Amino acid sequence: MRDTTDIPKPRAQDLLTWYDHHARVLPWRVGPAERATGVMPDPYRVWLSEIMLQQTTVATVRGRFPRFMTRWPSVRDLAATDEADVMAEWAGLGYYARARNLLKCARQVSDHMDGAFPGTYEGLLALPGIGPYTAAAISAIAYDLPSPVMDGNIERVMARLFAISTPLPAAKPVLRARVTDLTPQARPGDYAQAVMDLGATICTARRPTCSLCPWSGACLGHLTGRATDLPRKTAQKPKPTRHGIVYIGARADGALLLETRPDKGLLGGMLGWPGSDWEGADAPAPTPPADAAWQSLTGEIRHTFTHFHLILKVEFATLPQTAEPSVGQFMTPDRFRPGDLPTVMRKAYDLWRKHINRP
Ligand code: ADE
Repeated sequence: MRDTTDIPKPRAQDLLTWYDHHARVLPWRVGPAERATGVMPDPYRVWLSEIMLQQTTVATVRGRFPRFMTRWPSVRDLAATDEADVMAEWAGLGYYARARNLLKCARQVSDHMDGAFPGTYEGLLALPGIGPYTAAAISAIAYDLPSPVMDGNIERVMARLFAISTPLPAAKPVLRARVTDLTPQARPGDYAQAVMDLGATICTARRPTCSLCPWSGACLGHLTGRATDLPRKTAQKPKPTRHGIVYIGARADGALLLETRPDKGLLGGMLGWPGSDWEGADAPAPTPPADAAWQSLTGEIRHTFTHFHLILKVEFATLPQTAEPSVGQFMTPDRFRPGDLPTVMRKAYDLWRKHINRP
């Protein structure tokens, strides 16, 4: 193996120079050229983008962020909104507790902080929905504070740069120490975004393009031929599969039977079809939400959540105008927008629509 003692240490400045030429153009970002003229990002935009990006890809957030900003241009506008409207706008982004915390946070900032986000890591961390990663990212990007920012992409970059072969998650403290050491006092906001961009575009998980990397001359993983093998990961337990049934009941006037799911739990506060709990394959059949000639749709819905795979069967029926369901409420077509459904419920709706269009 190559003698690594003569390899230079990575310098934040080399990454910043790369960022000056290759920064991604993102709707929430103040790019490096504009930033150099003294323009600071709006903390509200930075906060909103970081919450959206917590569990959702840049590609998806790119498309959805501008809609949020048009609808709620300031934290006060968002704070004054009904929860149901925020949940509906969040539909399809997943991890719906984020949307409820988003509103809680907006109200706290609007009502108790005069509409101004705190300008410190600790102040941000005390707000609903803001954990250590997000507080670090916002304090770096919005206020140019040298907070060490570490997410999955940055872990990968650091594991390769320093050839850390301890598997994740055990390697986290070592990786964090490296992130802290490397974070510069000059331009820490640009630096945080530069590492994110490097991880997303060059130091990718499967096929890093080391030939284009500004740190290739200092990267122990690359120089010892181990970049693609890093970071190592402790094998995870396979996800279990759960099963369930949803009921799509339609009245002759087009109204659909829907329920707002309880605040606590999966898809909390979101619109959905009434149905069973999601359990093992042999759970007893649930009671439908209304008496009717329920029929099974051919096919099933498959959806993967963080901790399990779900297989859903869909039952459907025409319900009489006088039906009094045991759960949920009817929504007439003028009030119901399929786009307000979370993805798994939307999949059930799409399967049903396909069937009724072509019975
Ligand atoms: N991922 C998380 N936060 C990000 C940001 N501000 N820019 C690009 N990718 C990100």
